[in-house]
Amino acid sequence: MIHYNPNTRTFNLLGQHSHYAMLVDGDGRLLHLAWGPTPNPVTGHNRFAPPGQSSFEFQGQRDELPAYGPISVHEVALKVSFPNPPTALKPGDTLNRPIRDVRLAYTGYEIEENGQLSMVNGQLPTAPSSLPNPQSAIRNPQSTLLRIFLHDPAQPLAVTLCYRLFPAHDVIERWCELTNTGPNPIRVEKLAFAALHLPPGSSEVTTVHGAWGAEFTTQRHVLPVGSFNIGHRSVQTGHAFNPFFLANRPGQATETSGPVYFGALAFSGAWLLTFEHQHSGDVRVFGGYNPFDFELILQPGQTHTTPAFVCGVSDEGWGGASRRLHTFTRDAVLPNDAPRPVLYNSWEATYFALSHEGQAALARKAAAIGVELFVVDDGWFGGRRSPLSGLGDWTVSPEVFPRGLQPLIEEVHALGMQFGLWFEPEMVNPDSDLYRQHPDWVLHFPGRPRTEARMQLVLDYGRAEVIDHIFNALDAILANHDIDFIKWDMNRNVTEPGSVTGKAIWRAHAAGVYGLMDRLRQKYPHLSLQSCSGGGGRVDLGILRRVDQVWTSDNTDALDRLRIQEGFSLAYPARIMEAWVTHEKNHQTGRVLDLATRFDVAMRGVLGIGSDLNALSDEELKAYASYIAFYKRFRHVVQDGDLYRLETLAEQGASTLLYVLPDQSEAVYSVAVHDHLIGRHRPPACLRGLNPQATYAIFDRHERAIAHLSGADLMAQGIPGDTYGPAGYSRTLHLKIGD
Ligand code: GLA
Repeated sequence: MIHYNPNTRTFNLLGQHSHYAMLVDGDGRLLHLAWGPTPNPVTGHNRFAPPGQSSFEFQGQRDELPAYGPISVHEVALKVSFPNPPTALKPGDTLNRPIRDVRLAYTGYEIEENGQLSMVNGQLPTAPSSLPNPQSAIRNPQSTLLRIFLHDPAQPLAVTLCYRLFPAHDVIERWCELTNTGPNPIRVEKLAFAALHLPPGSSEVTTVHGAWGAEFTTQRHVLPVGSFNIGHRSVQTGHAFNPFFLANRPGQATETSGPVYFGALAFSGAWLLTFEHQHSGDVRVFGGYNPFDFELILQPGQTHTTPAFVCGVSDEGWGGASRRLHTFTRDAVLPNDAPRPVLYNSWEATYFALSHEGQAALARKAAAIGVELFVVDDGWFGGRRSPLSGLGDWTVSPEVFPRGLQPLIEEVHALGMQFGLWFEPEMVNPDSDLYRQHPDWVLHFPGRPRTEARMQLVLDYGRAEVIDHIFNALDAILANHDIDFIKWDMNRNVTEPGSVTGKAIWRAHAAGVYGLMDRLRQKYPHLSLQSCSGGGGRVDLGILRRVDQVWTSDNTDALDRLRIQEGFSLAYPARIMEAWVTHEKNHQTGRVLDLATRFDVAMRGVLGIGSDLNALSDEELKAYASYIAFYKRFRHVVQDGDLYRLETLAEQGASTLLYVLPDQSEAVYSVAVHDHLIGRHRPPACLRGLNPQATYAIFDRHERAIAHLSGADLMAQGIPGDTYGPAGYSRTLHLKIGD
């Protein structure tokens, strides 16, 4: 529920278990009041009001959107420069001095329930809202949108702060809209989508960092007083950091308890999250466009709508915060909720050595072990016989597929599987027809080096003709082939970002990708998409509105994956996390791990197979088939259930997970030991989230019920037998009430 009290001039956004409150003060400033894990409205008492009139005492003011202008030396969300003199000059004012401050004053509000205006400044509306609504592709209608209108009284800038409350999730999706209401262009020099004021002292922050092959490494630390930044300076989300955080008061949260605040950006361009821990104990989080090389020119009458900064709070520790983000992403972000199929990808089996016969032979073996989606990776098009050439030429190579691709697709479909194909639509090799025809279509600065990475350059997605060309190329393939799934890859960071759009390319590139994906999905509604950027380099709530799953990492070593997947699970749900079983001797790390470990770890997400099936014995293929059949029996629990991290790597050297269906009727238990735990005599992890009264039958891969235990017993004692293990020890069990 969203409520405005005209007497105290307070806004209250009440979720099922949370409150978020703001106040309009006597000067018309919109101030943050409170945010917390109880559903009680707060009154208009501003405990952060400056205690005196000294200029140094104003620093604690908590503007909802701190802008550069009012007296503060702290971080800001918005900085604007107006090239013209103010509308009303004061005595002593000199002309020709650009104005570089902005003041925001409250002018009114609007509330929209399920797309319909329900309140305008406390009155019932007379006309429907005509404002743009960028976040409208939402499956779950249980949300209320509050728009608060601010403007600069002396400059032609209107700012609308938008709050979409999902009460059942205790999540608020926030963004802002900036409009130039004057006759001349204005320049925005810094812009966060939102600023979050955490309760004072919330200085313990959890984020992830990484690199290619080592994404999503968890780090948790207490912020010193000062600023801490994570971000990316390229045109995709990046491997180095991922745009989400969890935060709490040090010592007051655990995996299972305590208030934890969280936030995640819905944006795949150059982004920045700044955590500012002030001397006063205040902690503010600014999330939005990376200010490096940033510029946004607002033309007269133009409105810029930022992407969203999703935020929320849970009283159930880091685990509760993750579950809130997972449920929100499943209900309100992802394009659909259909079960994700078991995938086979032939990349590591054949690399660039593609042929119809070779792929068809793999497809027959894949179908026989229970695979549901067969994906042909890089190398099927143009002159792409190695990473050296061909990117950009999206036509089926007659050299590789003399009869075209459709016969293979038909064979795959006849085997009962869907067919998927790899693309890297943002790239071009200099050795390609596309580059030879349009060398000006790549990002570059005139006369300067065009740095190649993996022998490729980045197309200028600021050019409409480039986007149209790529759309037409993909459309031609999709129109003439029955393709069910696209793996959308992106294999380098950007350098020399010279674009026809100027500095706007840091945003325009992501907008171009989104637009292309949206057009393709609209024209081919049955199509599924996977986001890949050299593994997990493009995972965020913006791309997740358009894709069904992501490639988590090129590193498929099961023990490394435990760490990668644990960090991933802090923010993102298992139903998007592709996890493959690959060769016994891992291609990335060279480590040898047995099949059980490889399956037990891969079955924690969207199961895929990447092994060379031709190199496997009949017995091994039979074991693969048995694991895949096991996974299919419980995948709805992994893909749609609530995740409990029972043991974490940092604390126990093992990762033990439990997925529980919301009605508690089924659960999946998965343990995997990372460090040798021999001799430690650790007791089995206690389960969580089960129905204490019910009796659960516990099934292994061979459908044997190994025990019948009550939910209460399992939550007090754990699964019998999981007391120790060497590195690589693993086990997956399926729990069901009533069998
Ligand atoms: C990237 C991807 C891999 C594979 C190759 C193909 O590295 O992450 O999965 O698709 O490209 O070139």
